[in-house]
Amino acid sequence: MKFKYILTEQKDRVLLITLNRPKALNALSPQLMAELSQAVVDADLDEKISCLVLTGSKKAFAAGADIRDMKGKSYMDVYKADFITSEWEAVSRCRKPVIAAVSGYALGGGCELAMMCDFIIAAENAKFGQPEINLGVIPGAGGTQRLPRFIGKSKAMEMVLLGQDRFMDACEAERCGLVSRVVATDDLMADVIETANKISRLSTPSLMMAKESVKRAFEVNLAEGVRFERRLFHSSFATEDKEEGMAAFIEKRSPNFKNK
Ligand code: CAA
Repeated sequence: MKFKYILTEQKDRVLLITLNRPKALNALSPQLMAELSQAVVDADLDEKISCLVLTGSKKAFAAGADIRDMKGKSYMDVYKADFITSEWEAVSRCRKPVIAAVSGYALGGGCELAMMCDFIIAAENAKFGQPEINLGVIPGAGGTQRLPRFIGKSKAMEMVLLGQDRFMDACEAERCGLVSRVVATDDLMADVIETANKISRLSTPSLMMAKESVKRAFEVNLAEGVRFERRLFHSSFATEDKEEGMAAFIEKRSPNFKNK
């Protein structure tokens, strides 16, 4: 399918998705989100893809939901259409690993979209924020829920309540665990693609189980989470890749995973 607001490029087993509304700083319009959702759902089902990378431009990962689009919408419009839910949740539902490569602004829905990915690698120029309060609304794509879970209540509250007066730079984002690593702005994409390539050479079913298990940690208590992990760990013994991975270790060679 040909997309207008995103670019997709497959490199080996990695799908790179680039948000592509540079003039609007990648504002997340319903059309863009519909395309992104389609690309992610397709990639999730595509046997030839093991890992996804989501990125924007150097200046902006995404500056939030499209304010021009939202301005004309009423309560009934957004309630009836379940605005945000239908097109926005594909990334958080994706079963394969998704890495966010964030350069520049990740604001409002942009910050929320990055947090829906499995981890964020940030460029030195990255800026995270939830400025919805300045528009007379509140975050609507998980900002008030994921942010406190990831960085703690105090910093999340400050960001959500102060909006554009409390953006977080890359250094602080790494310090408080919002991002996994910070790299030089010009090196971001090479670094993220190398990381995604390493992941994509591993067993896809194992990756899916590992991801599902880590995500579970944010949803259930410790005892339930550990039980869930144990059952998935047992399930991994049913894969051919488990036989191959362990045999390769014993035989001192690289594994040749079949993703089965
Ligand atoms: N929606 C629509 N258009 C946007 C946009 C957005 N979220 N963010 C930027 N743009 C547009 C601007 O309107 C401008 O377009 P024109 O050239 O046609 O005027 C263009 O992108 C460039 O923006 P600026 O001129 O403002 O660029 P700047 O460098 O001076 O400022 C910025 C950059 C600080 C990111 C500023 O653009 C900004 O504050 N953007 C809005 C951020 C925001 O409030 N995001 C939250 C949206 S609500 C939301 O996301 C809800 C949710 O939880 C899902």
